Amino acid sequence: MVATSPAPSLPGEAPDQAAIRLQLRSWPEVEAYLQGCKGVIVPLGSTEQHGPTGAIGTDALTAEAVALEVGRRTGVLVTPTQAFGMAEHHLGFAGTISLQPATLMAVLHDVVLSLARHGFERIFVINGHGGNIATSRAAFAQAYGTAASRGLANAGALRCRLANWFTASPVSSLARELYGNREGHHATPSEIALTLALEPSLQAKQRPLPEAAPAGPIHGPEDFRRRHPDGRMGSDPFLASAEHGQQFLELAATALAEDLASFLAEPDAS
Ligand code: NI
Repeated sequence: MVATSPAPSLPGEAPDQAAIRLQLRSWPEVEAYLQGCKGVIVPLGSTEQHGPTGAIGTDALTAEAVALEVGRRTGVLVTPTQAFGMAEHHLGFAGTISLQPATLMAVLHDVVLSLARHGFERIFVINGHGGNIATSRAAFAQAYGTAASRGLANAGALRCRLANWFTASPVSSLARELYGNREGHHATPSEIALTLALEPSLQAKQRPLPEAAPAGPIHGPEDFRRRHPDGRMGSDPFLASAEHGQQFLELAATALAEDLASFLAEPDAS
């Protein structure tokens, strides 16, 4: 059975950010949680350059913050963040650490199968990086097949959903309203704003930048650096502010908490 409404992580306990972190739970607590809710949130980020003024950890920091806020509001457990993503085209810039698509697929597959083995049936991946999308979907397809072939008792009930916080429609609307086409496609002011809200020290990196190279096709790392010499794609991250970041966090958490609630309420296969 999947709970139609998420349960607090322990009976009688109001969910807060510490309570919903899997890392801070014991295994009996996780077993008890599973009696009331089969849902879990997996934050997925990337460790990659974000232009000359953005933090390398932007996509992981933002995915984690949104995931913890969604967890806090819904009482759904949040796993540790998968902070390495598919960032092959950013490898031309120092600090980027990328998993090849096949590696990321194997990681996500194994995460899903581990969770499914314990009885989790709704795996809600909150993603902060566009480059992870195709690979995540492939990993889910692979995981469904493996769950069935291993004969997991809940294989038929297993569902994975990818929720990209940056494409939630209220988030895109606010980004358009605040930044117009200077939102761009990489090292965007919206994601940088969220990092400024999370980590005030990042404000010191902010400075005006020349106009960014426009978005174009994405090939290998050398080609990417040639087309986008400072790492940005059409964006103006100097427009970002911590106040904007708070608004993005609020909008993203609201939209994704709703999406999660409907995901948890989806009936099993019949
Ligand atoms: Ni990013």
